[in-house]
Amino acid sequence: MLNLKGLSRAEKLELINHIFKKYPSKWAEESFGLVLDPWQAKMLDSPAKRLALNIHRQGGKSTMSSLICLHTALFRPGSLSLIIAPALRQSQENFKKIRSFIDQLSEVPKFDESTKLSLQFETGSRILCLPGGNDGKTIRGFSRPDVIVEDEAAQCSDELHYAIMPMMATFPDCKYVMASTPFGQRGHFYKIWTESPAWEKYELKASDNPRISKEFLEEQRTSPMGPWYYAQEFECEFVAGVTQLISHESILKAMDSSIPVVDIS
Ligand SMILES: Nc1ncnc2c1ncn2[C@@H]1O[C@H](COP(=O)(O)OP(=O)(O)OP(=O)(O)O)[C@@H](O)[C@H]1O
Ligand SMILES: [Mg+2]
Repeated sequence: MLNLKGLSRAEKLELINHIFKKYPSKWAEESFGLVLDPWQAKMLDSPAKRLALNIHRQGGKSTMSSLICLHTALFRPGSLSLIIAPALRQSQENFKKIRSFIDQLSEVPKFDESTKLSLQFETGSRILCLPGGNDGKTIRGFSRPDVIVEDEAAQCSDELHYAIMPMMATFPDCKYVMASTPFGQRGHFYKIWTESPAWEKYELKASDNPRISKEFLEEQRTSPMGPWYYAQEFECEFVAGVTQLISHESILKAMDSSIPVVDIS
């Protein structure tokens, strides 16, 4: 508990501002009345520069990504935050989330410019919601972002991911958040999730989220969606593609470096 006794109004404001800057979760809870899930508070406050979120559908990935961008824009003047999604519709949804949070702020920031997908604050900070397309050509040209969010990462092409990475060349401390549900044992999201220790990883299955009812999940599990989609959309599992006969896991298990190579020539 904070002891603000004896502090002047200016000192109190300065202290609160300091706490909100350092702990985005406190800022989000206080400003928007949110009760954050443990993974949400942890990832908002994490100092990690690479974060991968494998969170079930409707678990709050886009909401947290929007909050990270807005927090950066407000507390780091002159910053650039990019939220990249595969398609225009998803970028519009992300933009709407950010706008709705801005509308709830007690002090609405001033803008130099606001379009349907971008905001330029009076402080020079910018938030851009970009549709990446298949080859990433539309997102080339942005330099030195402070935050990059790759939303629906398993649905983003590898080419798009490869077009994003070089943007960080002159500022590798950029925070890169990759958010998705799994989609097969393929692609950069799967590779990073299974192979890269450099990324801080977050996972939440729908069955572990009290906001999602057991009845709803049972309806989905037994729906025409089928087990392949259900396991990925709700249980965070990377399931081999329907056309993939042998799973990536089985291939890895079958590879044993202790077995000597037999020359049959
Ligand atoms: N801590 C929370 N408390 C209450 N509601 C929440 C919380 N986190 C997220 N939500 C709500 O859950 C819903 C889904 O959030 P969001 O769109 O961010 O999820 P998502 O993981 O991006 O979903 P999808 O995978 O479908 O894109 C939204 O209505 C959001 O407001
Ligand atoms: Mg989303």
